[in-house]
Amino acid sequence: MPENVAGPADSWWSDAVVYQIYPRSFADSDADGIGDLQGVIERLDYLSQLGVDVLWLSPVYPSPHDDNGYDISDYQDIDPLFGTLADFDRMLAGVHERGMKLVMDLVVNHTSDEHPWFTASRDGGPGGDKRDWYIWRPPRDGMEPGTAGAEPNNWESWFSGPAWTFDEASGEYYLHTFSRKQPDLNWDNPEVRQAVYAMMRWWLDRGVDGFRMDVINLISKDPALPDGIVPEGARYGFGHPYYVCGPRVHEYIAEMHREVFAGHPRRLLTVGEMPGVTVEEAKLFTDPARRELDMVFQFEHVGLDQGPGGKFDVRPLRLTDLKASLGRWQTGLGETGWNSLYWNNHDQPRVVSRFGDDSPAYRDRSAKLLATVLHLHRGTPFVYQGEELAMANAPFASIGDFRDIESLNHHREQIALGTDEAQILEGLRHRSRDNARTPMQWDATQHAGFTTGTPWIAVNPDHVDVNAKAQLADPDSVFHYYRRLIELRHTEPAVTHGDFHMLHPDHEQLYAFTRHDAASGTELLVLANFGAADLTVDLPEGWEDSDTLIANLPATSPLTSTYTLRPWEARVHRRRTTT
Ligand code: GLC
Repeated sequence: MPENVAGPADSWWSDAVVYQIYPRSFADSDADGIGDLQGVIERLDYLSQLGVDVLWLSPVYPSPHDDNGYDISDYQDIDPLFGTLADFDRMLAGVHERGMKLVMDLVVNHTSDEHPWFTASRDGGPGGDKRDWYIWRPPRDGMEPGTAGAEPNNWESWFSGPAWTFDEASGEYYLHTFSRKQPDLNWDNPEVRQAVYAMMRWWLDRGVDGFRMDVINLISKDPALPDGIVPEGARYGFGHPYYVCGPRVHEYIAEMHREVFAGHPRRLLTVGEMPGVTVEEAKLFTDPARRELDMVFQFEHVGLDQGPGGKFDVRPLRLTDLKASLGRWQTGLGETGWNSLYWNNHDQPRVVSRFGDDSPAYRDRSAKLLATVLHLHRGTPFVYQGEELAMANAPFASIGDFRDIESLNHHREQIALGTDEAQILEGLRHRSRDNARTPMQWDATQHAGFTTGTPWIAVNPDHVDVNAKAQLADPDSVFHYYRRLIELRHTEPAVTHGDFHMLHPDHEQLYAFTRHDAASGTELLVLANFGAADLTVDLPEGWEDSDTLIANLPATSPLTSTYTLRPWEARVHRRRTTT
C-alpha cells in the first residue's frame, strides 16, 4: 500500500501541473449566468488537451455566496447553483477517465454564518452545546456593548472593519477574520477538529484526490486574543502576531494528516494556502519527515508591488525584488520541503497585466515569458483558468462593475474616509480580485461562449481577440506554449529535479537561472528579458552548442559569450553535463 508521507520524495505530484477552476466563472451550461459542474464536464477535453494532471476546484458547496462560496453553509453537498452530488460524481469520473485528479477546496478556518454549526452556536447562547465551536467573547471591559471600540480586541477583518460582530441576544461578539458572514471556527475544540476530519474522509471516500486548504495557517489563534500590532507596512493580517501560524498550527495539521491522510490507500495531494508564511515555517510544514502537508502557497512574491498604503496601493515591481524573493524560496525549500509555483489564482490580478505587458504588441510574448520563468522553477506549477490564454485585467469603469466583497467594502470604507473616488477605482482596477473572476473566454461570440444568459460579471471585451477557440487553432498561441511547458515537466527530468541557481541577481531587466540535474546529466539555462528594450547579456561558458528546449522567439544566434534578447524574449536551453 503506498503511504501518504506528505512531501516530495518520489511523489506522483512532483512532476505534476495543477489547473485551478473557479466554477462560477468557468462555463455555464444552463444559461443562468453562473458557471456550473455540467459546464466543467463539457470542458474536460480542453483541460486534457492542455495536459494538466490535477484540477483544483474552488468551492462548489452550498453557500449564501457572501464571498463567492468561501462561506460554506453545508460541507457535504453541492450548491444548486452548480448542480448536484450526482453531477459532481459524473464530473469526478470524467476527470479520472482522462487520467487527471481532482483536489477540493477545503475552507475550514471559518464557515458561513448560515451553517447549522454556527446557528446552533449562536442560538444556543453561552453554555449551549455548540457555543465553543466558534470564538465568542464579551465586550471589552467597561465599554458599552455594540459601540465602536467595544470589540474584544482590535483585530480587523481582512475585508475591512472590525473582525468582531456583536450578537444582541447574548451580548457577546463572535470573531470573523474575513466577512461577518464567515465566523471563525474554534480549532482548539477537539469536537470541531473531529467534525472537520470526518467531513474530509467523506470526500476522500467519494473519490477526490486531496485538498487545497484555504488560509489554513490561520486556524490557531493565541487563546488570550491580545490586541495585535501589525508590523508597519504589512498588508493587514499577513504578519499578524496572534494568528498567522499561531501556537498550535503544526499540531493541528499533523493531527489532520494522521486522522485523514496517513495510510490512505490512494496517493493524495495537500496544499495549504498560507498568507504571511515565512520560508522557515514553510520548511516545517512541507518537511516529509514531519508529515504535515505536501506544499504551501506563500504570498511574498505577490506582495512586492504593493506600497505602504496596503493592498490597493500599487507600485511598480522591481525585478530584483522578485528574483530575491523567489530565489530565496527556491533555495530555502531546496533540500527539504517543496515549492508551489503560481502567478495567478482567483484572488490575484491577471499576471500579464501585472508583471508582463498586456499591450497588443507584447501581450502574448510577455505571457509566454512569465509562463517560462515560472514553469522552469523547481516546484509544482499552478495554472489559473484563462492564464493559459493570457487573459488580462478587466476595464472596470465604475464601482457598479465590481462584484467582490473585498473590493466593495474597500470602496465603501474609503468613500466614508473621504478618499477621492478616481483614486479608489484606480487601485481596484489594478488589484481587485474581480480581475481574475471575469468569465473564461472560450470564443469570440457574445459573452465569450461562457453563457447564453447574462453573466454574473461582465466578460472582458477583449474576448473577441483573446479566446480559447482562436488559440487552439493557432500552433503559436499562448495556449499551445503552456501545453508544451506542461509536457516538458513530464518529459525533461531537469525541469522537475534540477537544482536551482540564480544568475545576475542584481540585474533589473534580466531573469536568468540554471537548473542542473546530475542524475540525468542535464543542465538547463533560462533567460528572460523582462522589458520592451533589447538586452544584451553576458553568458556563462559552454552554451554554444546547447539546444533550445523551448523559447517564445526563434534564436538569432548561438549562445556564445553574449546574446541579445529581444523585448520580452524568453529562452530555455539544454546541454549535457555528462556523456
Ligand atoms: C482565501 C481565499 C479567498 C477567500 C478567503 C476567505 O484567501 O482564497 O478567496 O476570500 O480565503 O475564505
